[in-house]
Amino acid sequence: MNEPGSAEAPIQLRGLHKRFGELVVLDGVSLDIQRGRTTAIIGPSGTGKSVLLKHIVGLIQPDSGVVKVLGTELASASSKALYAVRRRVGMLFQDGALFDSLDVGDNIAFPLIHHRPDLNADARARRVAEVLEQVELPGIERRAVSALSGGQRKRVGLARAIVHEPEIVLFDEPNSGLDPMTSDAIDALIGSLKARLGLTFVVITHDIVGTFNVADRIVMLYAGSIVADGDTDTVARSEHPIVRRFLSRNLLLPGPGEVVRLPTIG
Ligand SMILES: Nc1ncnc2c1ncn2[C@@H]1O[C@H](COP(=O)(O)OP(=O)(O)OP(=O)(O)O)[C@@H](O)[C@H]1O
Ligand SMILES: [Mg+2]
Repeated sequence: MNEPGSAEAPIQLRGLHKRFGELVVLDGVSLDIQRGRTTAIIGPSGTGKSVLLKHIVGLIQPDSGVVKVLGTELASASSKALYAVRRRVGMLFQDGALFDSLDVGDNIAFPLIHHRPDLNADARARRVAEVLEQVELPGIERRAVSALSGGQRKRVGLARAIVHEPEIVLFDEPNSGLDPMTSDAIDALIGSLKARLGLTFVVITHDIVGTFNVADRIVMLYAGSIVADGDTDTVARSEHPIVRRFLSRNLLLPGPGEVVRLPTIG
């Protein structure tokens, strides 16, 4: 798409500081996320990963610093400009964030009603059916959200995140709470979405092995700061003691001159 800023990184974070009361969560985070790549954000629980992602969709405002998405600085944007940005971004929330008062189909149709006024009810229903098939839950449109299992909620959340065909998709723990087979299916779905040119993914995950298989770049957050940033090989070779400790539980870290060895999946 040819709009101002299309040549620059679609997500730009500059000097983000965020605290909740006494708790400093982000302590000066600067990060450019490149177009068409999968950037994984890893780090221990409570380190600010979800908070960081919520800044990108404007759900949380920084105390200081700049969030620029698709060329628009969120803090100073008009509501019309914000709306235009949101239309191009999809987010899977860690807890699914589904509306319990709406059934599955209406949850998934929600972004379409807001962002695709060109579609009539039939076209919306077709699109909803299509994404439900993609997440391997065909035909459950009229099911109540309260009747879904945790893994099903996650997949419905994923369907809602992608239904309006966003250019940027933010995934907060897409695999957590899923059995290995469903988890692999979600990975495969993310992989097939990625094959669509130009899509930009940011994935927060605890699944280190999966991360090293799908990510082009890994960013590790710790205590409000970025402690590692690079391709999988670079991060696996990090000398930072925190990074090594975090990764060593899950990966066979390489010695000098060795290649990174990944446990194989599937
Ligand atoms: N709205 C809020 N008000 C107060 N504190 C918050 C709020 N949102 C997050 N926090 C706190 O900020 C810290 C970072 O939270 P965050 O959800 O970003 O962690 P996380 O890295 O995503 O952890 P996890 O891996 O467990 O999901 C936590 O201590 C959390 O309690
Ligand atoms: Mg989180």
